[in-house]
Amino acid sequence: MEDLAIARGIDPNKFIIGIGQSQQAVPPNHQDIVTLGAQAALPLLPSIDNNRLKMVIVGTESGVDASKSSALYIHKLLNLSPWVRCVEVKEACYGATAALMMARDYILAHPGTQVLVIAADIARYGVGTPGEVTQGAGAVAMLVSENPRVLQINDDSVVKSAEIQDFWRPVYQSTALARGKFSTEQYINMFCDVWQRYSAENACNFNDFEAICFHLPYTKMGLKALRAGFEENSGMSPTSDTRERLLARYQDSTKYSRRIGNIYTGSLYLGLISLLDCDYFRNSCDSSATACDSSESVGDSPAVACDLSSAAHTNEPPTCPSPLLPGQKIGLFSYGSGAVAEFFSATLVPGWRDALFSNQHIKALNNRTQLSVLQYEAMFNSAAPYSPQDFASSQNHRSGVRFVLDSITSQERRYLSI
Ligand code: CAA
Repeated sequence: MEDLAIARGIDPNKFIIGIGQSQQAVPPNHQDIVTLGAQAALPLLPSIDNNRLKMVIVGTESGVDASKSSALYIHKLLNLSPWVRCVEVKEACYGATAALMMARDYILAHPGTQVLVIAADIARYGVGTPGEVTQGAGAVAMLVSENPRVLQINDDSVVKSAEIQDFWRPVYQSTALARGKFSTEQYINMFCDVWQRYSAENACNFNDFEAICFHLPYTKMGLKALRAGFEENSGMSPTSDTRERLLARYQDSTKYSRRIGNIYTGSLYLGLISLLDCDYFRNSCDSSATACDSSESVGDSPAVACDLSSAAHTNEPPTCPSPLLPGQKIGLFSYGSGAVAEFFSATLVPGWRDALFSNQHIKALNNRTQLSVLQYEAMFNSAAPYSPQDFASSQNHRSGVRFVLDSITSQERRYLSI
């Protein structure tokens, strides 16, 4: 982000401190939401029972076809049972939450079954646009069942919809259009609205939450909303301990996004993973966890104990949170432009730390190749075209990748497992 700021003639502190982004994921042109989504689901395959799996739902706003569901391509790449329902859900960055809620309700109605939910997106605003600093790419996969290994989703959500024009992407183009400042205001207003109704309906307040994760279009965004919530809280005010705890946990939840950028509908869940992985690294130093080796990093500096580097970016008090415990409640705020917002909670279940993939996450992040700004621009401009012409993807940057979009011929996409 520092290189990008310099290339755009902007003070790097605007990107790193003002917006809160240090790095950005740039996908090679053989990666799209299908390949990213399939790759994200790979570690879950041993836990998927083909007799119990009933649905594959992909939440995305960067789908590869206006008609056919990307879930079908992913379903084939993962060689899943044919006896499932494959669909794609769209509502900007809210899509994965809609998918998760559908999964939860399906499991309630059909105990014993499993649903695979995948959130996958590539955030593209365009070279030299104000949104460029917030671009990113990535996917999150979640297996939903009646016996969760990490979190139990509670039946307490409050959701609000309002048709507004803050961010959108016409079907004929790959880059999004945004009213940047307006979208930021809408996000904050929607958070305050759903939070107030949620706290009234569930007779709770900020003190009841161990952590709150936010949709993170950039890492400063959730912080603005959290602070607005603290100010506007009409019920019981958060104690100073609560404020300190929620701000420290918020820093944990932003570490991955700070290094990846916006992954649209997966961003909230990337924040959740970041929160849990930070706790894992902080509290597993006496085990064989490789991330306790100082060569591994979660933020901008080694991940051991309390990484204060990103707290310094936000002028927040440096606090080292205590270990997360089963039974603790985590709030989740989902926002999709256009706009739909939902606040709900999930409770950590016993043994949750054993079900994480923290070391794999850090390895994937640290194994990336740094690009110059010119290389990034070339990669950005080489993406599969939004037009009928044939396309052959690059042979470069394929190591460590399991799935590629190999080509598009006569408007048909050809994916490969490698
Ligand atoms: N040092 C430190 N800080 C600096 C600085 C410097 N030299 N120069 C500027 N800053 C600070 C500013 O004070 C400002 O801080 P605050 O927001 O706390 O006031 C911050 O940097 C950003 O500055 P600007 O507002 O001037 O930045 P901008 O005009 O370039 O716009 C943006 C920023 C609106 C986020 C833009 O990047 C954008 O349009 N992004 C895409 C839209 C988006 O992400 N919207 C978020 C809500 S919508 C949503 O959540 C859905 C989604 O995923 C898209």
